Amino acid sequence: MDIIGIGYLGFESARIEEWRTYGPQVLGFQVGASPEADPESLYFRIDDRRHRFAFHPGQRERLAYIGWEARGKLEFEAAVRRLREAGVDVTEGDVALCELRGVKAVVRFRDPVGYQHELFYAQKWMPRSFQSGRPHGGFVADGRGLGHVVLITPEFTPELEHFLTEVMGFHYYGAGAGKGKTAFYRTKLNNYTSHDIAYGHGPGKMGIQHIGLFVKSLRDVGETYDIVKQRNLPMMMTLGQHTQDPHVSFYHFSPSGFAFEVITELEPWHHDGFELNPEKLSTWGHEVVGPILGPSVRSPQEVLDAEGLAILERNKHRHA
Ligand SMILES: [Fe+2]
Repeated sequence: MDIIGIGYLGFESARIEEWRTYGPQVLGFQVGASPEADPESLYFRIDDRRHRFAFHPGQRERLAYIGWEARGKLEFEAAVRRLREAGVDVTEGDVALCELRGVKAVVRFRDPVGYQHELFYAQKWMPRSFQSGRPHGGFVADGRGLGHVVLITPEFTPELEHFLTEVMGFHYYGAGAGKGKTAFYRTKLNNYTSHDIAYGHGPGKMGIQHIGLFVKSLRDVGETYDIVKQRNLPMMMTLGQHTQDPHVSFYHFSPSGFAFEVITELEPWHHDGFELNPEKLSTWGHEVVGPILGPSVRSPQEVLDAEGLAILERNKHRHA
């Protein structure tokens, strides 16, 4: 599938008001206009797209959907055909959903462990329209997507691997320095980083663990780091440089209990020509000072809706 990366992410949250100050003041996001049909939700911008993050009011702190971006109309149509050929249950988004997402077309489907995905093309865009919520040098997004997500999955089944590599057409990057059955994947069109998405195996656990957010300069990593410390926000890992991606980052927790890894590409991508098997996670720094699995990682019952749980259970029993 000719997918660029993650175009947008949607969340359910009971903490929208916290996000409304945290997003602009800590991360530098712009509060975007909410669509007329969805005035209660909070939409954030990080570049000239209409939005990249949406927070919908609800009872729980959880990831609601991952929006994958097809390169264009023809690639979108080919991708939908591929999903259907593979037996994935695909629901076409109606005009109202396209309007909410700001896209020309969107479909919805689940992965084999129950997470909700969407695929779209042509999200609304206006050049030179992004204004960060605080002084900030800007984010690396545009044609590469908003960054990466790491999900925890209670079951790491062959169906999940097949879905990611054979259906979605992602490159398997490897397990990196991750322990156990963690696996990193990047889209076919992304040759700049180790992963757009990773699934970490956590028996009995589910949820979004962190989002990797790319900023244009080291200064923006450092200034965000200072703001996080000044506000005494909970940290997961201090500043450091990874082995698998030679980038500088740190991890802190957001109001919804998952972490943001604020990253800048300090050294050029090494164009991994072989499956990397790093001796350790980082070359320096990244001291672990908080939980690796934050409060956003819970039981599947707390993270998935009924439809997602049914999918997870069905695939689990195939292997029982
Ligand atoms: Fe990351």
